[in-house]
Amino acid sequence: MNTTIRKVTAAGKGESVAIFTTHAEKFNTSYFSKPELEYIKSEIKKKNKLISVNQYHRYVFLQIVDLADKETYRQLEIIRKAGDQLAGVLNRTKATSVCVVADVNEDFGAALLEGMALGNYQFLKYKTKSDPNTLQKINVISRQLSAEKISELSVTCEAVSMARDLVNEPACSLPATALANAFKTMGKKAGFRVKVFDKSRIKSMKMGGLLAVNKGSIDPPTFTVMEWKPSKARNKKPYVLVGKGVVYDTGGLSLKPTPGSMDYMKSDMAGAAAVGSAMYAIAKMKLPVHVIALVPATDNRPDGNADTPGDVITRMRGFKVEVLNTDAEGRMILADALHYAKQYKPELVMEFSTLTGAAANAIGHYGIVAMGDCDDAVKNELVSSANNVYERLVQFPFWEEYDELIRSDVADIKNIGGPIGGAITAGRFLQRFTDYPYMHFDIAGPSFIKSNDSYRGKNGSGVGVRFVVDFLKGKSGKK
Ligand code: BES
Ligand code: MN
Ligand code: ZN
Repeated sequence: MNTTIRKVTAAGKGESVAIFTTHAEKFNTSYFSKPELEYIKSEIKKKNKLISVNQYHRYVFLQIVDLADKETYRQLEIIRKAGDQLAGVLNRTKATSVCVVADVNEDFGAALLEGMALGNYQFLKYKTKSDPNTLQKINVISRQLSAEKISELSVTCEAVSMARDLVNEPACSLPATALANAFKTMGKKAGFRVKVFDKSRIKSMKMGGLLAVNKGSIDPPTFTVMEWKPSKARNKKPYVLVGKGVVYDTGGLSLKPTPGSMDYMKSDMAGAAAVGSAMYAIAKMKLPVHVIALVPATDNRPDGNADTPGDVITRMRGFKVEVLNTDAEGRMILADALHYAKQYKPELVMEFSTLTGAAANAIGHYGIVAMGDCDDAVKNELVSSANNVYERLVQFPFWEEYDELIRSDVADIKNIGGPIGGAITAGRFLQRFTDYPYMHFDIAGPSFIKSNDSYRGKNGSGVGVRFVVDFLKGKSGKK
C-alpha cells in the first residue's frame, strides 16, 4: 500500500489539516479561532505535543516537535517518528486525506512527510477481513519544500513500500522466478533494463554456488541483472548493487533448528528487495548516475539431491569451496554475483544481505553491520548517507587475519568459520570473490522487525532502500 504525497496551495473543503512546528510558540494561527487558540495554549502548557481541534467539518492538528540540542540527523529521526504518530491520529479520526502545513526548513518538512507515509504502510493482501488505514493522500503546503523534493520523497517512499511488499510476501507465492518477474515489472514502470538468466544460462555461466544451493529445490534459480544507464551519467565506472535473493531459507540439509529460527525466513531475500527497489527509485527520479544491480535467487531446502556438508563446489575460474554447512547458503550464491560484477570494473560494489545471525545478535535491528575495503573517504560518505536516513552503520573489522578461520583442509576455502566473528568470516568469504572497492552490508537484524517500530512498522522494513538512494543521489550531484 502506498500513500501519495503532493504539493498544494490550499486545504480542500472539509479536509483535515495538520500544522507542523518545531517551536510551540511559533506556528500558523490562521487556522484557529480565538477560543481554540486559548485551548491550544493550555494544552501546550500541559506539554501536549499533538493537539487536536475538532472544528466539526474538519479536524485541525498541531504537531509540535521539540528538537532539543541534538545533531541534525537525530533531529530528523525525531521528526519522522512524530510523522508516524500523526498518521496514526489521522487514521483514528478516519481521515482519507490531510493537508500538512509545513513552514519549516526543507529537510524537517520532508522528514515529517516521510514518517507519515512510511508509517502508514500496511500489508493486507492476505486478510479477508481487514481494517485498512483510511489515510491515502498527503497534501502539503510549504514554501520551503520544492515540488521536486516532494516528488523524490514520494518515489522513495513508494520504493520502500515495494521492498516491504516483497519481503512480506510468503515464499509459496514468491519463488525465484516470481522475484525476477517483480523486478521486470519495476523495470518497465521506472524505465530501467532488466535481464533474467534462467537455469540453463546460469549453468553455462558456471555459477556453481547458486546451482549448489538450488540442488535441493524443485524450483529453478534465477540471476537478475538490472541496469540504469542514463546518457548524462556523472560516473564513468558504474556503481554495482548486489542483493541476496534467498526466497526461503530452511538451512538445507543443515536444517535450521526449530523452534522459531525458520519462522521469518521468507525475508531472506530482503537484500534483493532493497537493491531492486532502490533501482526503481533511482530510475524513476532519473538520477544521472550509472547503476547496475545483481540478484542471485533461489530457495534453500533439503531434498533428495540437496547439496551436502562436505561437498566441494567448483565455480567460475575453477575456485573451489568446501560446503561444511548448507545453512551458510547466502555467501555461496553471492560469491557468483560478486565474481560476475568484476566485468564492470565498478567504482564501488554495495552488497546487501541477510547474511548472518551473528550480525543480528550483535546489534539487533538498530543498524546495519557494515564492513569492506573501499577508501576511508567513501566509507565516510556511506556513513553520512546512512545517518541521513537513520539506517546507521556499525563498522566491523575486515582484517585479513580472519581469513585463517575459513581455510579448508580439502578445498581453497570453506563456507563457515566457527564460533568467532561469524559476521566477519562471512564478509571475508565474500571478499575473496571481489577485485574492486567493496562494501558488505549485513541486514539480518534490521530487515525484518518483530514488533512495531514507529514508521519502520512491523515485519519487512525495506531497510537499505533509502540509504542507497541517498548515497547515489549524492553521487549524482543532486544533493
Ligand atoms: N539467512 C540466514 C541468516 C539470518 C539469521 C538472517 C537470522 C536473518 C535472521 C543465513 O543464511 C544463515 O543461516 N546464516 C548462518 C550461518 C552459519 C551457518 C555459518 C547463521 O548465521 O547461523
Ligand atoms: Mn542460511
Ligand atoms: Zn540465509
